[in-house]
Amino acid sequence: MKEFYGICRVMIGKKQAVQSMKLGLVILLLTLLPLPSVQATTPLDVLHWWTSPGEHRAAEVLRQDLLQHSVIWQDHAVPGGGGDSAMAVLKAQVIAGSPPDVAQIIGPNIGEWANLGYLQPLDEWTANWPDDWHRTLDELTRFNGERVAVPISIHRINWMWLNPQVYQELGLSLPTSWSQIMRDAETLRDAGITPLAHGGQPWQVATLFETLLLSVGGPEFYRDYFVYRTPEALADSRVEEALHLLRDLKTLMDDEMQNREWQEASRMVIEGEAAMQIMGDWVKGEFVAHSMEAGQDFLCMPVPGTAQHHLYSVDTFVFFQREDDETRAAQARFAEGIMDSNTQRLFSLQKGTIPARADLSLAGFDDCAQTSAHVFREAEATGLLAPSMAHSMATTPGVESALFHVLHRFFRDDDIPVTTAREQMARVLGALRDHE
Ligand code: GAL
Repeated sequence: MKEFYGICRVMIGKKQAVQSMKLGLVILLLTLLPLPSVQATTPLDVLHWWTSPGEHRAAEVLRQDLLQHSVIWQDHAVPGGGGDSAMAVLKAQVIAGSPPDVAQIIGPNIGEWANLGYLQPLDEWTANWPDDWHRTLDELTRFNGERVAVPISIHRINWMWLNPQVYQELGLSLPTSWSQIMRDAETLRDAGITPLAHGGQPWQVATLFETLLLSVGGPEFYRDYFVYRTPEALADSRVEEALHLLRDLKTLMDDEMQNREWQEASRMVIEGEAAMQIMGDWVKGEFVAHSMEAGQDFLCMPVPGTAQHHLYSVDTFVFFQREDDETRAAQARFAEGIMDSNTQRLFSLQKGTIPARADLSLAGFDDCAQTSAHVFREAEATGLLAPSMAHSMATTPGVESALFHVLHRFFRDDDIPVTTAREQMARVLGALRDHE
């Protein structure tokens, strides 16, 4: 049986052209065939927020693959893109004294949980892990020097996802600037197509805003603003420029967008109801789930002005401390499985990401993933990565939710002046700086 699984995995790596079909087949076979012999083992509760169709398929690949490491994954998926609801559920579970065995926790939030003493230190489990790490991921997964999280893959957020047929049929060239995007809107609207598919949920608004800030100011300014929170950056007029742009882009969205889920916006692009979506590459998981191919059925293009930049979010798992040896042993096998090279490849092909491991070949991955990997390496080498604020990489959960609130109100209410929103965000970010 193990060989069969191995063959399936090699097959998937071979050709990107048939990759999603094969993945579909593998998932089907894996569910039809008897499970590989899993030693009697303690199941693990796994809390995560991968609930869209594409995310669900990716999580399923992971769950099935971990069986080979004798891990029984008891799914606790909390709906809600970006993980806000999942983190609220996690807090409630911890307060009730029943944290999960494994949780998807990302960014500096890992350090907050580790600081409270909840997380299992991983150093004794890492003997077989590679030495070659992306520096950023190495830092993200440690607390006080000790490894406390295991990374699965890296998302790039500053992407536009386009339906090429829409552009072709209307004779529009592919957009490379904001002014072109604004100009094309009329042609698209006349043809009954929504120029920009989006959902007005707070985390989605924040995701769009941070890509605009990156587009307008570049990664150094972005980090001065969200990470270092310098007084100059907080007062900079480029923040207002990004807010104006956010308001301009709102005019390209349809009236139904306020509470729309991100995957519903992706569906609009898939079906040609909308021309494009601006969102992280978890969107690619939705295209892949529809057996669509990059470069042919959909296109990924960098958000204008950000081709060399990588606005990243890294997905990681942590382990809540357990007394009993069996659960700890199962957690160790989970961590081992997540770091397995084939597991990382399989998951990323389905999720839209690039593997977290720096030593893996990307043969068989599409051009969007190749670009993401190349830009990530370059930007990391030159110190120009941009950690996502909206996806918990740049700041603490408290500041993140205060910024979500300001941005969401600004987005909903066109009467709020741009200067007011800038000042409100400066107060939130400045208060954090003063507190440090
Ligand atoms: C991000 C997460 C991704 C994706 C996205 C939408 O925070 O890193 O894996 O799931 O949210 O839910």
